[in-house]
Amino acid sequence: MKRKVIRTGDGSNTLEITDLNETYHSRHGALVEAKHVFIDAGLSYWLSQNPKSQSLSIFEMGLGTGMNALLTFDFLENSPLRLNYLGLEAFPLESKEWLAMNAEGWGNYNQYLKLHEAEWNRAIELAPNKMIHKVDQTFESFESQTSFDLIYYDAFGARAQPELWEARWFEKCANLLNTGGVFVTYAAKGSVRRALEAANLRVERLPGPPGKREMLRATKTPQS
Ligand SMILES: C[S@@+](CC[C@H](N)C(=O)[O-])C[C@H]1O[C@@H](n2cnc3c(N)ncnc32)[C@H](O)[C@@H]1O
Repeated sequence: MKRKVIRTGDGSNTLEITDLNETYHSRHGALVEAKHVFIDAGLSYWLSQNPKSQSLSIFEMGLGTGMNALLTFDFLENSPLRLNYLGLEAFPLESKEWLAMNAEGWGNYNQYLKLHEAEWNRAIELAPNKMIHKVDQTFESFESQTSFDLIYYDAFGARAQPELWEARWFEKCANLLNTGGVFVTYAAKGSVRRALEAANLRVERLPGPPGKREMLRATKTPQS
């Protein structure tokens, strides 16, 4: 898989898979998209719904460059919440790739380095009371002993990777969620919305980031 660093509309970098003409983030703005979809519609929303919770577990499907992870750790920097962040990644980046991302503007750069230098398949404390666990495995084969409060579903788009947008994977996500748990994705496809509803999640269509009309958020309600 040949990847190259490209600059996006907001000045932040992402990676492009040249053969597939597919990018890791929106060409309109990688940071703007990640903050809009995963931080604002996901993390911030979950916090607003669970103000008394003392812990938060996040599952990210597609850790990639670590942008979503770093933004999450940055957002929670002064929060007393205990964080467990599991980032799943089937095709880890090479060090020359993550070093070329110009990630200084994403959050705490020392954390970025520590995140990428961390061993796979072993949880480490990235910040006080906040753990990251990188797992190099496919989502299809991933089995979890624990469930999660928040899922960031950040697979490549359906054009490049249709197999990860099949209904069964949203049922798998629903099973991975705790009651009250929240799933977010940048996608807005009708088939994805219907699959989330079929998995008994309460689905909302929200305004998307620049260049995208809508995105999806789904919640596992007590009735789910
Ligand atoms: C759209 S990019 C995600 C970008 C990432 N969240 C970030 O902040 O850089 C999709 C990611 O999913 C990974 N991926 C693709 N297929 C996968 C699979 N079957 N299981 C796990 N990860 C996969 C890719 O290698 C890539 O890192």
